[in-house]
Amino acid sequence: MALDRTLFIVKPDAVARNLIGRILAHVEDKGFRIAEARFTRLTREQCQEFYAEHLGKPFFNELVDFMTSGPVMLTCLERENAVAFLREVIGATDPAQAAAGTVRKLYAESKGRNSVHASDSPASADREVKLFFGVAALAR
Ligand code: RTP
Ligand code: MG
Repeated sequence: MALDRTLFIVKPDAVARNLIGRILAHVEDKGFRIAEARFTRLTREQCQEFYAEHLGKPFFNELVDFMTSGPVMLTCLERENAVAFLREVIGATDPAQAAAGTVRKLYAESKGRNSVHASDSPASADREVKLFFGVAALAR
C-alpha cells in the first residue's frame, strides 16, 4: 500500500499545557513519520481559510478565537492509510465521545478545546497540506 500524507495540528490548548512532545510521540508510535513541521501562530485570515467549511456555523467565531489564541504545531504526517488511520488515532471531536486511548480522550479539555486537528478526507488532506506547506509537500 502506498504512503500518503495528512495534516495534523497540535492546537493551542495542548501547546499551552506542554503536550507537544507527548502528542507527537503518540502519533510517531502509531507509525506516522513527521514529513513537515512548523511552530507558528495562525492569523485570523489563515484560520478562516483553513476552517472555511465551518463558516457561518454557530461555533465558527469561537473556533477562530481559540485557534488564534496561542501558537500551534503544524505538521504533515506520512504513513500508509494516513488520513483514515489518523482520524482513528485522534478519536471523536468531543472527548466525552472519544474511544479509550485516543489522543482526544487522553488530552482534550472539551469539544472546543480538543487538542488536535486531523484532515477528514484525502481531498481535505491535499488542500490543507498545500495551504500550510505548499504544493511540494504533497509529493509522495
Ligand atoms: P478538526 O477539524 O479540528 O480536526 O475537528 P473535527 O474534524 O473532529 O470536527 P469539525 O466538525 O471539523 O469541527 C472543527 C472544530 O470545531 C469545533 N467544534 N465545536 N461547539 C460545537 O458544537 C463544535 N463543533 C465543532 C471543535 O473544536 C472541532 O474540532
Ligand atoms: Mg474537521
